[in-house]
Amino acid sequence: MNRSLRVLVAGGSLALVSLLAAAPNPAITDETKVPPYTLPEPLVCADGTPVRTVAMWEAKRRPELRGLFTREVYGRTPASLPAALRFEVTAVDRGALGGTATRKEVTVWFAAKADGARMHLLIYQPNGRKTPAPVFLGLNFFGNHSVHADPGIRLASPFIYYDADRYRPAAPGTPVKSEQRGVHAEKWQIEAVLARGFATATVWCHDLCPDRVGGLGENVPALFATGGAEQRAGDAWGAMGAWAWGLSRAMDYLATDPELDARRVAVHGFSRLGKAALWAAAQDERFAMLVSMGSGCGGAALSKRIYGETVAIINDKFPHWFAKNFRRYNDRESELPVDQHQLLALIAPRPLYVASAHGDSWSDPRGEFLGAQGAEPVYALYGKKGLGVNAMPGLDTPVGATIGYHNRTGKHDVTAYDWAQFLNFAERCWPR
Ligand code: GCU
Repeated sequence: MNRSLRVLVAGGSLALVSLLAAAPNPAITDETKVPPYTLPEPLVCADGTPVRTVAMWEAKRRPELRGLFTREVYGRTPASLPAALRFEVTAVDRGALGGTATRKEVTVWFAAKADGARMHLLIYQPNGRKTPAPVFLGLNFFGNHSVHADPGIRLASPFIYYDADRYRPAAPGTPVKSEQRGVHAEKWQIEAVLARGFATATVWCHDLCPDRVGGLGENVPALFATGGAEQRAGDAWGAMGAWAWGLSRAMDYLATDPELDARRVAVHGFSRLGKAALWAAAQDERFAMLVSMGSGCGGAALSKRIYGETVAIINDKFPHWFAKNFRRYNDRESELPVDQHQLLALIAPRPLYVASAHGDSWSDPRGEFLGAQGAEPVYALYGKKGLGVNAMPGLDTPVGATIGYHNRTGKHDVTAYDWAQFLNFAERCWPR
């Protein structure tokens, strides 16, 4: 194991800052180097009892697994809602996107104070539907204005400058550049979603928990005073927990809007926000479908393969994302009492779509496929057909029934091709 010794030279004196801090083992991206591993059984309880019925899965094994993911991986979600929770519809434009859609903006207040924690929810719904629209709901990386160039979208605040796919806080007074609008429009494909009769809803993850180590002292984590990245309890939540919590609060609003079909809300997410979407769907059964793209380590990919990003690497680089307890498994994945196929199994019997990109070895496409495959026994318990294949399908070949999967040519991204498959899957699972 690599060890690093960090030494700080301050004012001529030598201060030892951190001694023997473990550096993560390097990533493996060669399939022949994947060590043998044993996956924990989704359908065997901790006391060894096999699960043979849905009733037993729901009463015993499912809560047991949720408890393990809570304690060991993502941390606890506060049980009660803020007393001040309320929705304020701040704007409705029935003639958005050339008259094809209605744009709604809703502020979800978590605190009574005007400068307290809140999130801004942006919704587009197709005009001309006779029945409430099913919804794709997901968090975005760079502010609601990044998902479409529509000048009517309120600009995120504090404004974060987008540059080469990195967050850069803008200096106060930085003029908002018009090209910042719609920087992630390709990843959202809003017109394509609307054209197929779906609504789309999104929240900026930063509103819930800024994506930096100090973020755990701000916004929603601050509201619940759950502690900073290092100071919190071992099973306190991290950013993933706060992001997932925000998705559930968006769901709270969607359930109040008669123009939207709250029984058909697909929660989706890309990459780190795919991990958050998975955790949201695993906890909140109101999400009727889950779609993840390139969610990788701590998402759909099996941790025990230690292929691509590992537990140690992710905890080292993003110490604020998961519970501190997850660090116990840094370079000790074999000791994890759970693996990500069991997280996916918590979504059963709801439709689940896992997508990978072939060039995204960091997210371990094969590990994501195997994660989806490992959830199949629980879907089968409900009489649901899973992937319908025994081996990983070829490139750009979507497979599956209630569990869908594809491995797209290309890199870590969400593309028009990916969205076409998500929409096909949703239409198949939810016929009009
Ligand atoms: C990093 C991180 C991944 C994450 C990705 C993203 O690459 O290591 O775990 O999924 O960022 O969010 O784009």
